[in-house]
Amino acid sequence: PTEKGWVANHLHQYQGFWHTTRQLQAVLACQRHFQAQDTDIFLITTPKSGTTWLKAIVFALMNRFQYPNTHTHHHPLLSENPHVLVPFLELGLYIDGQVGDFTTFTSPRLFGTHLPFVSLPDTVKNSTCKLVYMCRNPKDTFVSLWHFTNKLRTNGTNSLEETFDKFTRGVSLYGPFWDHVLGYWKQSLENPERVLFLKYEEMKEQPKVQVLKLAEFLGRPFSLEEEIDGILKLCSFENLSNLEVNKTGKLASGEDYNTFFRRGDVGDGKNHLSPQMIKKFDQITQQKLHGYGLKF
Ligand code: A3P
Repeated sequence: PTEKGWVANHLHQYQGFWHTTRQLQAVLACQRHFQAQDTDIFLITTPKSGTTWLKAIVFALMNRFQYPNTHTHHHPLLSENPHVLVPFLELGLYIDGQVGDFTTFTSPRLFGTHLPFVSLPDTVKNSTCKLVYMCRNPKDTFVSLWHFTNKLRTNGTNSLEETFDKFTRGVSLYGPFWDHVLGYWKQSLENPERVLFLKYEEMKEQPKVQVLKLAEFLGRPFSLEEEIDGILKLCSFENLSNLEVNKTGKLASGEDYNTFFRRGDVGDGKNHLSPQMIKKFDQITQQKLHGYGLKF
């Protein structure tokens, strides 16, 4: 119980999802005070589903007329972490009693959030702003989250078994993981012009196709294919993780930027989970997603 923030052991369930005390206060503050604009763009994930990558790509995509030469040193992504360029609604703008300061934002405003659909502020739900959701297969997301929270802990580590037990019971930050994903999957089916549903694995496999889709969805289609190559190179794991800023900097909330870059691969979950754990993950996934047309 001495650990705070991300690694606090005590979680609260609110609207069906689990939050630390600090996060829950921020969620309530967003719900009460945030005013959406129709031009806003929300980048939404469960933790460790590729948020950093998505933020970098969408920032580069939306700002490409202002910063066309992604390989030059003038690009903001070369000197600033994606989480600073695209702040989290409830983890940056409304945390610890802050009430979002949007004076430096220009329209279209870009925000990150881990909020489940049910908990988005009403002004977001009632506006025509765009929601981009990126998910990642539960095994890799879980293993990435386990590494991340252990890196942030100052007293000891959480065992894989115990964390697995909680995660598969739905008790994880912004969990149940499957309900989070399903919430946005359903919205993307009902409202495809408002909600774009992406997968980390597909982004890895066919980045160009996915970025083209993103650009169309956000109303910024590409005319030159080289532009996409430039953005993908700029936002690649290799490039971002090797930048000085991301090796040495840290967020105002204390997390070192380098904790957001580990391997950036597909399939690492299997390297850490036992055959029984894999079986259980697959069973839950099948059971939870059955009938919705979503597969991992
Ligand atoms: P791993 O721990 O599996 O390596 P988030 O950004 O949501 O916190 O997710 C972090 C995960 O995304 C980590 O996964 C991290 O390595 C990976 N990641 C970070 N930047 C990336 C990038 N530019 N391209 C691909 N994956 C990236």
